[in-house]
Amino acid sequence: MADKGPRIFSGIQPTGGLHLGNYLGALRNFVELQATHECIYCVVDLHAITAPHDPSELRQNTYEAVAAFLAAGVDARAHIIFNQARVAAHSELAWVFNCVARYGWLDRMTQFKEKVGKHRAKASVGLWVYPNLMAADILAYKAQKVPVGDDQRQHLELVRDIAQKFNHDFCPKDEPFFPLPEPLILKSGGRVMSLRDGTRKMSKSEPSSMSRILLTDDADAIAQKIRKAKTDALPCPAERDELPQRPEAANLIGIFAALANKPQETVLADYGGKPFSAFKADLAALTISTITPIGAEMARLLGDVTHLEQIMSDGAARAQAIARPIMKKVKELVGFAV
Ligand code: TYM
Repeated sequence: MADKGPRIFSGIQPTGGLHLGNYLGALRNFVELQATHECIYCVVDLHAITAPHDPSELRQNTYEAVAAFLAAGVDARAHIIFNQARVAAHSELAWVFNCVARYGWLDRMTQFKEKVGKHRAKASVGLWVYPNLMAADILAYKAQKVPVGDDQRQHLELVRDIAQKFNHDFCPKDEPFFPLPEPLILKSGGRVMSLRDGTRKMSKSEPSSMSRILLTDDADAIAQKIRKAKTDALPCPAERDELPQRPEAANLIGIFAALANKPQETVLADYGGKPFSAFKADLAALTISTITPIGAEMARLLGDVTHLEQIMSDGAARAQAIARPIMKKVKELVGFAV
């Protein structure tokens, strides 16, 4: 794996209900990057317990996420797939970063504010320091690049701040220890919005199940969700400058372009002025042909949990081998007598 190019790390939470946003914003890119990078893909179960959870569901969701990586096309032999809880370096380094990151930095995190709303005092402390754990995930492997959806942009900025402060505080000036990881955010598909509200992102936590297409949805469910997706009273837009005022139309055009691997302009030219019903029928067909094979393969893989366990334990052993010398050096730099 050493000659595979720059190292990549990314993670997906096993909170159940992986959706089209996860696929277009992240998974699809994970698969693409394998040809040119050394990839470490992680099911971030430590992150998943920052919100209340059911232990048996967490385990099942972890298997489901591993199955999704594989079904989307990640090669677990050439690259690494594992779950975070198997590699202690994540928690160990997160503690060090809890002491590097400044309170004020976390106080700026919009995702935390959006998640907790008025109930800040009831949020777990883990949810508050969640981005520090993300920094540990990435930097425990000195990963240089991080493919994520647009919603993770601010967290990635914090990761860079943490790396920089660690280097400043503990390393000689000309010998920084951690790289400053770069986010890889796709222009097309990096921000998929809810099918019910084009101003909110497609998300597992949105109450209406009609707002998102799951990787496990069958063809009928996908067709129905797209048929019922919110639009406006006008026909399909023809020009890019119509899109900002028409968020739902913009979202559907964006999804089409991402799935078809075409520029938005082409989709606008093909469908501009046509009724949404025609566009939606084509979008449903395109979505079904991309997503249902992944869902079917996930179901097949979930029938053999022993195989998934094997992949996770093998991946974790290889991840650990990369993180071990990095953690040894971190402890030395921080001054632990170990
Ligand atoms: P999570 O589990 O919420 O989402 C997994 C990935 O899917 C992307 N994504 C989207 N992309 C486009 N449109 C959407 N509507 C959409 N919803 C989700 C996310 O941006 C993400 O890339 N904190 C992370 C997980 C994580 C991580 C890391 C990522 C933990 N440690 C280290 C990278 C590196 C999260 O909660 O993702």
